[in-house]
Amino acid sequence: MKLANAYDDEDYRAVLERGDILFFPNGGFEIPGAVRAALMGATQDARSFHKNIAYKPNIDQVSGLVDGSEAEVVKPAMREYSRCALAFLGRILPEYARAWKVDYASFRSIEERGRELPPTKRNDLLHVDAFPTRPVFGDMILRCFTNVNPEQSREWMTSDPFTTLAAETAEKAGLLRYAGASGSSLHAVRRRMTKSLAGLGLPVVDRSPYDAFMLHYHDWLKGNQEYQANCRKYRFQLPPGSTWLVFTDVVPHAVLGGRLALEQTVIVSRESLRDRALAPSAVLEKIAGCVLTE
Ligand code: SIN
Ligand code: FE
Repeated sequence: MKLANAYDDEDYRAVLERGDILFFPNGGFEIPGAVRAALMGATQDARSFHKNIAYKPNIDQVSGLVDGSEAEVVKPAMREYSRCALAFLGRILPEYARAWKVDYASFRSIEERGRELPPTKRNDLLHVDAFPTRPVFGDMILRCFTNVNPEQSREWMTSDPFTTLAAETAEKAGLLRYAGASGSSLHAVRRRMTKSLAGLGLPVVDRSPYDAFMLHYHDWLKGNQEYQANCRKYRFQLPPGSTWLVFTDVVPHAVLGGRLALEQTVIVSRESLRDRALAPSAVLEKIAGCVLTE
């Protein structure tokens, strides 16, 4: 597990899929000065359930601000950041861009060191990402972070990637329960009902057994003291102005300190991977011996 300097001539997909961090020490792309200026003044609501200020490109909305009237300034800035980040990602990862789904962008304005959050929301405990409201059905979560703090590094800790993580802990975490459920007729009935309710526009989430397991795994890892204490750890200081890309469902990660980071997420189709066997869904399906992504 390492920071792979993006200027070394390597296939970027291979770097990301094997669970390294693709690192652009000089930032990789320009974030307009006006965007930085607009965001530095934004006041994030630290007490609300919003962990960050989020921007949803598909509906052009921001959430997580203390003062709704700030949206007038923050929304265009986030829209512009999202546009620049997506153009950059599309340029360096064209094979992924052909089939990815654009997800949210975020601004992380609160100091992470000493931040008080409920246990499963804590950012300083190692975990793999899973989104409660946006199931991926076996596709993958690629995130592009930029540290826009002019003075302070962002401090990350990571651990061995998903192939190692899952071999050591997926069964202990209860994977076979999810695999067993995926073939049952009760599961099939429940899924059909959820799908039709979702189709009617009701606020229910239709997720695959893979998504259900990954949500559980996120919390299980954060709550597992043995894993947190004894797993192999790698620490990185991500300096001011740098950008890094990582599959946050492949790489267990935690942020220990720093404030003022921008981030854009895309959901990468597992069909567009260079090595499909490295998708967490493929890794889990191999261990479970059945399909988990339908
Ligand atoms: C996370 O995805 O767990 C947080 C990463 C960060 O904000 O640096
Ligand atoms: Fe995370």
